[in-house]
Amino acid sequence: MHRDDTIFRAGLFVGKSVFVTGGTGIGLAIASELRLLGADVIIGSRKEENLRLGCEALEGVDGPGRVLHHVCNIRDPESIDAAVAYATEQLGRIDFLVNNAGGQFPAPAVVMPKKGWDAVIETNLTGTFLMSQAVVNQAMAEQQSGAIVNIIAQMWNGFPMMAHTGAARAGVDNLTKTLALEWAQLGVRVNAVAPGVILSSGVQNYAPVFQQAFLDSVNYIPAGRLGTMREVAAAVAFLLSPAATFITGTTLRVDGGEPLFGSSAAGQLRETFEAVKTEPYE
Ligand code: ADE
Repeated sequence: MHRDDTIFRAGLFVGKSVFVTGGTGIGLAIASELRLLGADVIIGSRKEENLRLGCEALEGVDGPGRVLHHVCNIRDPESIDAAVAYATEQLGRIDFLVNNAGGQFPAPAVVMPKKGWDAVIETNLTGTFLMSQAVVNQAMAEQQSGAIVNIIAQMWNGFPMMAHTGAARAGVDNLTKTLALEWAQLGVRVNAVAPGVILSSGVQNYAPVFQQAFLDSVNYIPAGRLGTMREVAAAVAFLLSPAATFITGTTLRVDGGEPLFGSSAAGQLRETFEAVKTEPYE
């Protein structure tokens, strides 16, 4: 990524330090955007190999800031504390936290094992809470400033085959509001970004039938296409930027309008538009 690969002003985040959890896919796209805009970036993930690959990719992004990493299992409070302590020790402060790490697996609710349910809730909901709490306690409260963005998902009308993550992400949507209220007095803003169907590397982990369903969802998106990771990264950059200093407790949807229509209505509407486009109005 080079200077022209962002719509934001060069150097927007010079002097800022950001902790991004999860160093692959959308998380890496977010970390890359923030690095390109000048921030010092630390990525935290459970897997050493992902951190190594993530840092390698970040080093290839044009940016004046530092690139750091630390193992961080967001299901383990001790691991979180160690990673956040490392970030504050190395960077002096943490201005921004992006809670991106998470995971889920598609499964119908009738056969979803409790173990899998618990793991997804613990990672996506509890992990986001524990990370936010640690960063505020170790850095942002004392700084009396900071901004947090939670990455959730387009789950507004339920999330078939993903009951666990739908419930967890809806929980984070509400958590975002509670933390925004509690931490406003500390000068900390808390917002969320809810991506819709985004072309990201994580899709490769799904079984072929789910990959196909993922690609076919283009038929139900009013925008007529899937989203890109850079579109998600831009929304995060906006919420962290001085353009959003009066915005807290909100969730920004980046989904091409997907939840606004019932599944058939979106396709139908586009077909109707195609048909009437050719007919001149009297
Ligand atoms: N990505 C998926 N699960 C994770 C975890 N427990 N910690 C950090 N990153 C993750």
